[in-house]
Amino acid sequence: MNLKRRLRHYLNNRIVKPGIKEGIKEAILSAIPTVQHIAAIFPHEAEQPSYTLPAYPGEMRRHPDSPFPIPPDPLWAHYCTTVETYLQSGLDDTTTMRRLLLDSGAPIEQLGRILELGVAGGRLIRHLVDLVQQQEIWGLDVWASAILWCKEYLSPPFHFATTTVAPHLPFEDRSFGLVFAGSVWTHIDDLVEAWALEVHRILRPGGRLYFTINDRAAVKVFEGGGLPENRARYVERVRPDTWSDWLKLLKSHSGYQRFARGDAQMVTMGRSTQAHVMWDVDYLLKRWGPGWSICSVTPEAYGHQTGVLLARV
Ligand SMILES: C[S@@+](CC[C@H](N)C(=O)[O-])C[C@H]1O[C@@H](n2cnc3c(N)ncnc32)[C@H](O)[C@@H]1O
Repeated sequence: MNLKRRLRHYLNNRIVKPGIKEGIKEAILSAIPTVQHIAAIFPHEAEQPSYTLPAYPGEMRRHPDSPFPIPPDPLWAHYCTTVETYLQSGLDDTTTMRRLLLDSGAPIEQLGRILELGVAGGRLIRHLVDLVQQQEIWGLDVWASAILWCKEYLSPPFHFATTTVAPHLPFEDRSFGLVFAGSVWTHIDDLVEAWALEVHRILRPGGRLYFTINDRAAVKVFEGGGLPENRARYVERVRPDTWSDWLKLLKSHSGYQRFARGDAQMVTMGRSTQAHVMWDVDYLLKRWGPGWSICSVTPEAYGHQTGVLLARV
């Protein structure tokens, strides 16, 4: 029984006296969204009272271009609609990240331990397989089902752990050379600096943080700008109808309209774990304090999102 159903069960079975029942019921039910936000992970099989992990997991789809199985569609995080675009989009995004790292004077092969924050079903991490002989590579997510799949099918050679939305990473200080996060800061609102500080703690000096956001350059794309050849590629990735539904939703939001006019530095549509956040990149980086130097800010580095590469001072 999930939390909501369990509470209803107690209340409806007169464990609380009828006179005060309604008031308490209202107070508890109105607190549920907050409790769920603080609960901070998306548990595997959340609606079930128990679950098992099969000893012999079923066969997965394979593709000749990939040494690893392809995750089931729900773990694609709405990034693509075919196995081919799943693989190609991950390859494109990691190739761009490698190029930006190289341009910053830090080739990925020389960075040592690597962490992907918000790994989902491993769309990106799987394209780092060439590095695993000499580098330890970790993937984390708050989405327990996705991490279970990754553990089953991508480990070894990669390592995975489920974490929470609280800014705490279960690693030692200064123990990574690269942390990357594709479209994770797009879902973090109030805790954005706390996350930056936590990543700073686990990076060694000179280590790199690469993350992607929706900023003013992404707004240009939403408003019909950007490179036409890129646009065709990422609209095709998510399917044209999904893309146009997303644009409709965005453009009808008053916060987005303010941000697009330049009247806001940041907008969050939805809150906490449900947030879709946009930032003015200069404003965001100013708030992160002196612990970082900016290597590059690259529009359309990850679909329509801007890639931000920082060096830990
Ligand atoms: C839009 S998806 C991107 C998935 C993947 N990075 C990719 O490029 O295919 C965002 C992912 O970040 C995860 N996420 C959001 N907030 C997180 C946090 N605070 N810590 C770890 N993962 C988080 C979500 O569960 C989701 O899997």
